[in-house]
Amino acid sequence: METKVLNTLEINKAVDILKSGGIVAIPTETVYGLAANALDGNAVSKIFKAKGRPMDNPLIVHIADMGAINILCSNFPDKARKLTEKFWPGPLTIILPKSNIIPDEVSAGLDTVAVRFPSHKITQDIIKESGLFLAAPSANKSGSPSPTSALHVFKDLNGKIDAIVDGGECEVGLESTVITFANDKPKLLRPGKVTINEIENVIGKIDIDDSVYNKLKENVIPSSPGMKYKHYAPSAKIILINSDSEKYIDYVNNHKDSGVVALCYDEDIDNLNVPCISYGKLDDSKEQASKIFSCLRKIDDLNAKVAYARCPKKDGVGLAVYNRLIRAAGFEVINIE
Ligand code: TXA
Ligand code: MG
Repeated sequence: METKVLNTLEINKAVDILKSGGIVAIPTETVYGLAANALDGNAVSKIFKAKGRPMDNPLIVHIADMGAINILCSNFPDKARKLTEKFWPGPLTIILPKSNIIPDEVSAGLDTVAVRFPSHKITQDIIKESGLFLAAPSANKSGSPSPTSALHVFKDLNGKIDAIVDGGECEVGLESTVITFANDKPKLLRPGKVTINEIENVIGKIDIDDSVYNKLKENVIPSSPGMKYKHYAPSAKIILINSDSEKYIDYVNNHKDSGVVALCYDEDIDNLNVPCISYGKLDDSKEQASKIFSCLRKIDDLNAKVAYARCPKKDGVGLAVYNRLIRAAGFEVINIE
């Protein structure tokens, strides 16, 4: 199939494709999503095929008005409502008990549905003009880093999807924060730009799923099916180095070899003797978040074999960067005291 690349003045073409059961990659404030009519199981199944995504991994439904909640969900707890009042539209996904309008393809057989109200103007326009709810996972090949530009989508999915709307670079650069209301106490499943602190300031203490920090143990059923799959990984091997700047630089320079690159901070570049890909300034987690996925792709563009990565800070937005990088590294961390 030919994949059309559309500009933001051609949204009507994207809308027509979506209304007739096709799949279109669209920009959002977090990452590009691969969208289909969420109430059309057949259209949604095309997403799984194009991405090579396992069918047991459910999708987020994107909405552009609050009325959608009552149609998609069977219950809207008070705490969930408070979070939406504070953070929507924006990079927060909430998981709620689903209504029976949701096709099995979207919820992968679970009795819940994930819902997000994006803040990106183009995403909102596409949802409103189509009159649809849009099911959309990140628009990457399953397992690859999520796409933060139309070019990333094109490289992964050209020929497999109907169209891409090019809306430039995504501002946040990491996928939304995901919190579930499936149980009595709300639980964070995926960290993102909306931080644990910001959430707890609105609704009090929440649980944090084990998989946010740790590798999923064998034989444990994940709260979020996506957590059991290898993620965000380039072809090169990523190894996280947990240390201060000086020890990181020493370690990398002592392991200088052909095919070795450093995934470092701006401040490290001058002292490293290997090719460097910086994912931002030491103290700027937001910048790191916006760059990390394109940096993971650059590692492969350089044909690197091994990338030694600075371990991000684990607080605030840094936790989200850490969560993605540790998965890209297959949980391989070297701690240097
Ligand atoms: O920012 C984002 O969230 C982007 C943009 C496109 O909106 N979307 C995105 O979707 O990252 P995806 O499919 O790549 O990640 C969604 C995650 C997966 O780990 C999936 O398993 C989980 O959310 N998820 C979706 N529905 C769920 C449900 N009902 N229960 C538990 N986890 C769910
Ligand atoms: Mg994804």
